[in-house]
Amino acid sequence: PDLTLDKDQGLLFGQASLQSIATEYGSPTWVINADILKARYNKLDQAFKAEQLDVSIHYAMKANGHIAILDLLAKEGAGADIVSGGELLRALKAGISPAKICFSGVGKTEDELRLAIETQIAQINVESREELHLLSKIAQSIGKNAAICLRINPDVDAKTHHKITTGLAENKFGIAYKQAIAVYKEAYELPNITPLGFDVHIGSQISSTDPYRQAFIKMVALIKEARNQGLEVSTLDCGGGFGISYHDEKEARPDAIATLMKEVLGPLNLKLGIEPGRWLIGPSGVLISKVVMHKSNGPDAAPFIIIDAAMNDLVRPAMYDSWHGILPISPEIYQRPCQSLNIDGPVCESSDIFARDRLLPNLLPGDYIAILDAGAYGSVMSSTYNARPLAAQIMVSGNQSAVIQPRQSIEDLWKDEIIPSWYPKNS
Ligand code: LLP
Repeated sequence: PDLTLDKDQGLLFGQASLQSIATEYGSPTWVINADILKARYNKLDQAFKAEQLDVSIHYAMKANGHIAILDLLAKEGAGADIVSGGELLRALKAGISPAKICFSGVGKTEDELRLAIETQIAQINVESREELHLLSKIAQSIGKNAAICLRINPDVDAKTHHKITTGLAENKFGIAYKQAIAVYKEAYELPNITPLGFDVHIGSQISSTDPYRQAFIKMVALIKEARNQGLEVSTLDCGGGFGISYHDEKEARPDAIATLMKEVLGPLNLKLGIEPGRWLIGPSGVLISKVVMHKSNGPDAAPFIIIDAAMNDLVRPAMYDSWHGILPISPEIYQRPCQSLNIDGPVCESSDIFARDRLLPNLLPGDYIAILDAGAYGSVMSSTYNARPLAAQIMVSGNQSAVIQPRQSIEDLWKDEIIPSWYPKNS
């Protein structure tokens, strides 16, 4: 519904004409639609309000931490889920209040933990007993308290890609379910630690509510056990992972998640939190690219359409074999007959692939295409491999557009590189 084909203007993303953006800003170019992002945030927020659930939304900014995106979400009322000191400073810079920030991650450094305590963020999600002790030591040394949730590994299969599942016992994340109560007790005994409760995040791009149900049921048992033992539990952070529809998967439905949370967690009277990233920002972004070459490998094979975006821009297909929708931008292209196409980037790696045997109108050099659902884990995972500068980023709202990050210049790529002074000079 957010992409429509207008017979004169071609492909519209919300109200924005991608043809005009491509013409004005060139390619490859990321486009974030602020209206879509805002609408998605409000849809999620409303789903919980409709169930009269007290749920704080902590945007998992790793999905796309651009300041303009954080600024927009902060104004809508979102907090942030961060995973590094860099993300903490970025969130603060964007005006997100420390009272709305929670900090996840298995390898937080002493410096990062100190910064988190000093800035008095709402919640540190502690992922191990070792981290808990370290945190207590640092908190004592600066004379402040650290509010914590224990991230528990519930050993539940999220039924997603193996590289983005996090809640199985074999994954590095969280404290083993069986040790949870013992570690929570320790949290009570350690100085300068304020235990709030628990956190559970089982993975990403999860389409069904079943794995959430399994994880929440396990958390309910844990919370009841802790309370039976006289330990207070006020908070449950339910993590993120809500899936979107890249291809034929079903998009996770906020109302279904809210209903599930109400049913399973409602009776426990908890402060609830979620950490969605992809669901909010994924469908709010596309990547515009231009066809560079139409390479025929004979009449029996699908031609290779080489485009000017590559795995250094959007690494997801190369990294997770992920499927992204691809649509031509200009209206004339849709008049051409459809055929099976291979769409590839120009980088010297066979994994630099965007699509195999995709049925599309024939694409010719100079044509623009949009790679869909590229707002999450897109620009943030870019690199400059093959000396390819980072793509421009544009934000649109209604029929307005603005550069939110200029295209990197080639010179930028080496401006910080230094030849050691002791290196033999050319004579
Ligand atoms: N909370 C924690 C602790 C996480 O580790 C993650 C994602 C999230 C929340 C947000 O998950 P989301 O709602 O976005 O699914 N680069 C991969 C995804 C990696 C996800 C890492 N953790 C991809 O492109 O599919």
